[in-house]
Amino acid sequence: MIEKIIDSTNLYLETMPKQERKKYGQFFTSKETALFMAGLYNVPDSKDYLSILDAGAGSGMLACALIETLQGKENLKKIALTCYENDINILELLRSNLNQIKENSKIEIEYNILTDNYITSQHFDFNEMQGCNITEKKYDIVIGNPPYMKISKDAPEATAMPEVCYGAPNLYFLFASMSLFNLKDDGEMVYIIPRSWTSGAYFNRFRQYLLTKGKLEHIHLFVSRKKVFDKEDVLQETIIIKVIKTCNEPQTLTITSSHSNHDFHDLKTLKIPYSIAVSGENKYVYLVTDEDEVNTLMKINKWKNTLPSLGIKMKTGLTVDFRNREILRDVMEEGAVPLFYSQHIREGTVEFPINKENEFVVTEQSGLIQKNKNYLFVKRFTAKEEKRRLQCGIYLSKRYPQYEKISTQNKINFVDGLTSELSECEVYGLYALFNSTVYDTYYRVLNGSTQVNSTEINSMPVPSREIIRQLGKALIKSNDLSEENCDRILEEYYA
Ligand SMILES: C[S@@+](CC[C@H](N)C(=O)[O-])C[C@H]1O[C@@H](n2cnc3c(N)ncnc32)[C@H](O)[C@@H]1O
Repeated sequence: MIEKIIDSTNLYLETMPKQERKKYGQFFTSKETALFMAGLYNVPDSKDYLSILDAGAGSGMLACALIETLQGKENLKKIALTCYENDINILELLRSNLNQIKENSKIEIEYNILTDNYITSQHFDFNEMQGCNITEKKYDIVIGNPPYMKISKDAPEATAMPEVCYGAPNLYFLFASMSLFNLKDDGEMVYIIPRSWTSGAYFNRFRQYLLTKGKLEHIHLFVSRKKVFDKEDVLQETIIIKVIKTCNEPQTLTITSSHSNHDFHDLKTLKIPYSIAVSGENKYVYLVTDEDEVNTLMKINKWKNTLPSLGIKMKTGLTVDFRNREILRDVMEEGAVPLFYSQHIREGTVEFPINKENEFVVTEQSGLIQKNKNYLFVKRFTAKEEKRRLQCGIYLSKRYPQYEKISTQNKINFVDGLTSELSECEVYGLYALFNSTVYDTYYRVLNGSTQVNSTEINSMPVPSREIIRQLGKALIKSNDLSEENCDRILEEYYA
């Protein structure tokens, strides 16, 4: 069945312009990925009836892979399949593919295509009836490859689901929330979605919803960042998740990884404690791929503080240079203060000036300048191929006594002692932490992007101020800012 669907989908791809498909966030799942997703369900052998929902069905690839996989279930007599699809261009293909499936299936198939908008057509149910004695249709199984599309916070889909939206939402997580809502208790859903929701403030409400009402049972990672979607320019890093609709936290979570979407037989499998994978009040999801990363998380999770709990905070640099061109200066002049960029962060220290253009600012705007005191600077952006995400520079005010104020470009972060100024030892101590291999690994597991966000850094466990000072003293004494030395110094404190 599936080969026929691939052929007809390819034909559709050739005839339908990309621009048209883009309007609906239309990307098609490959056969291998669809079959892998279909194989993740645990359907009891005793089941004789299943209700299945494919939300955003496209040409029906996922439903087809699932029904093909279920053919081996001896007792399964009937499947009621519901497909939501609101792009009229693809409906005919979907209908003809579902007819093919129906005709070729040993199991009786009853299908229903709903051409309504999957989100707005159910918004009353989602908002009004949660927790009540609801009678609307719920499904045993949901499968989905939702549209990936940023929408405005005023879009009808976003206003239909305020509980999970914050900032600029994306259709993919509205679909995932609605699908969890559409599941029966203990029902299973498998979704292929970007990994971006696993950390970050914008996704917090979605994480709270998904991981309170549901629990992750399995995550599949594509380790190489090659394209998951054939013939498409999907740059987002994609993962497959299996979620069970239950409030009971499982003991473990399975994480598998493969190198491409064509090769699922050489899987690396890892079973980790659920509490390691999903942790903290932000419900971040830590996507570990090997035992070393698990050990790293366990090591760091022993610390019970965070920077803010110690009165310290990582913040984003204050000056957006291109929006404030009139205040920028190439050379020092009366009233000017230094503007620090990531180029000033060099091998663990801060070098200034470096004869870079716009290295100074002259401004009265208090929001763009900060006290000249000790900070740890951390680059916000690094290139994918660079070895480390966390790249820090020690900034000591005593090296620039001529300035009362300084400024930081918004492409760097700075760590600031809020309640009391950071002592020299503390800046060195924070450097030893964030320049170590374990913290870099921790950050990478937490956030797959190349950006270093202050929200995530501020949620990472850190030792007490006293230990941070001791780390700093050891680092100063050793006179060696290398990653290896930071690792050596930190190692003693894990024992
Ligand atoms: C990423 S594609 C996935 C297609 C198919 N499930 C697959 O895996 O090949 C998402 C599908 O959802 C449909 N879609 C987008 N927004 C929708 C909405 N609000 N309601 C129903 N379907 C929608 C698109 O037309 C598209 O076919």
